[in-house]
Amino acid sequence: MKIDIVSIFPGYFDVLELSLLGKAAKSKLVDVTVHDLRDATTDVHKSVDDTPYGGGAGMVMSPEPWGTMLDGVLQEDSWLVVPSPAGQLFSQSLAVEFSQAPHLVFACGRYEGIDQRVVEHYRTTHRVVEVSVGDYVLNGGEVAALAMMEATVRLLPGFMGNPESLVEESHEKGLLEYPSFTKPRTWRGLDVPEVLLSGNHDAIRTWREEQSLERTRQVRPDLLED
Ligand code: ADE
Repeated sequence: MKIDIVSIFPGYFDVLELSLLGKAAKSKLVDVTVHDLRDATTDVHKSVDDTPYGGGAGMVMSPEPWGTMLDGVLQEDSWLVVPSPAGQLFSQSLAVEFSQAPHLVFACGRYEGIDQRVVEHYRTTHRVVEVSVGDYVLNGGEVAALAMMEATVRLLPGFMGNPESLVEESHEKGLLEYPSFTKPRTWRGLDVPEVLLSGNHDAIRTWREEQSLERTRQVRPDLLED
């Protein structure tokens, strides 16, 4: 999979070298290129923003450098992902969709966001998704893009040593994952649940399903409404 990222802070993505994604890049599962939006500016100050029409606080990112940059980066089959607190909520199912896309382009805005005409314009030629990573406001799309990329790349075939662990984890079946334990059997007076030591695989599966349901009921009852 090919991923391009456009940002005025390309240094944010240096962490990709360290993280799981670095591993994927080395194994050629994913090919990531980071672009500095300021390279698409034409004035001496390399300005990327301006005051909002209609007034109000903050600055809005100008459409011109975005258009120049994205015209160069987008290919026919690219999906344009625009992190925004005003977007649809990111989810495991969207991560699955992203992992099946041939090319993802993340357009990371700062300030009060990118002039909306950029999204409008590319919607006429590409699949464009405005996505929020949660109901809170970040200073820009960079951290959101990193989270979405990590959730996406780990789903690529060949990324996980043991693909079974993808099937069992939180959100894959619409529920939170059951609790996990490892050695020692007793730690600070706390015992591992007896059933996990029983060797009875049916009983273990049933216990895990119950735990998964109970955890979801307590922590995320909204997930059970669907
Ligand atoms: N940019 C600022 N806040 C964001 C959020 N919650 N999700 C995605 N992008 C953002």
